[in-house]
Amino acid sequence: MLSIESLSKSYRKNNILIDISFTVNPGEIVGLVGENGAGKSTMLKILATLSQPSAGTIALNSLPYQRNTKNVRKLIGFVPQDIALWEEFTVEENMTFFEKLSWKNKTNKQLRELCLEMKLEKWKEPVYTLSGGMKRKLNIAISLIHDPILLLLDEPTVGIDLKSRKEIGAYLQAQAKNNGTMILYTSHDMDEIISLCDRIYCIGKDPFYYKVLQDSGKNPILL
Ligand SMILES: Nc1ncnc2c1ncn2[C@@H]1O[C@H](COP(=O)(O)OP(=O)(O)OP(=O)(O)O)[C@@H](O)[C@H]1O
Ligand SMILES: [Mg+2]
Repeated sequence: MLSIESLSKSYRKNNILIDISFTVNPGEIVGLVGENGAGKSTMLKILATLSQPSAGTIALNSLPYQRNTKNVRKLIGFVPQDIALWEEFTVEENMTFFEKLSWKNKTNKQLRELCLEMKLEKWKEPVYTLSGGMKRKLNIAISLIHDPILLLLDEPTVGIDLKSRKEIGAYLQAQAKNNGTMILYTSHDMDEIISLCDRIYCIGKDPFYYKVLQDSGKNPILL
């Protein structure tokens, strides 16, 4: 379980996240929604150990973040809001490169299968020739190479066509169900959030998303 307790984050005098507590259970897909600037990416970066909270505690399967950054990192997959790939390399070369950096040894066949599960078939093509949706899929596949128990996705489906979005959604659901992976993801697409998430948290000052979700019959949780 991922558990966040009384977490706050300020940039100078700007309080972005204030006293936030929530949990994510194994096998659960949890949505984090809120207006632009609400602090979603800030929260995911902190959970990915790339930024420090100003206050509060985080634990992953009872392992406190503070004293175990290295070990915690091995358990986490992170897909940042901006795509991060080697554009001149092929899909295969990108997968192999990131496999070398990961803590797991995967065969070429396993890496290829991971891409195929995401419906990413262009194994020998350079990344600059791929569409935005395919790049996204590759970014997600890379984040899963080391079999993380927690997957953090920052707007993984933005600007992607409906078919690819559905494929990504189906893949995430299978990942949560079959491997018990905890998935925390952000999106501005409320239909997608409603259909994919087991639980939805709302952050930020604007209650707009909270109201939309309530009206659709969901039980969003205000952080
Ligand atoms: N490194 C930083 N230094 C100072 N302020 C920052 C920094 N990173 C983020 N912020 C501020 O923190 C606030 C939250 O930003 P964040 O990117 O987390 O929002 P978000 O909810 O992800 O928004 P969006 O929906 O646009 O992606 C913003 O006001 C932003 O300007
Ligand atoms: Mg963001």
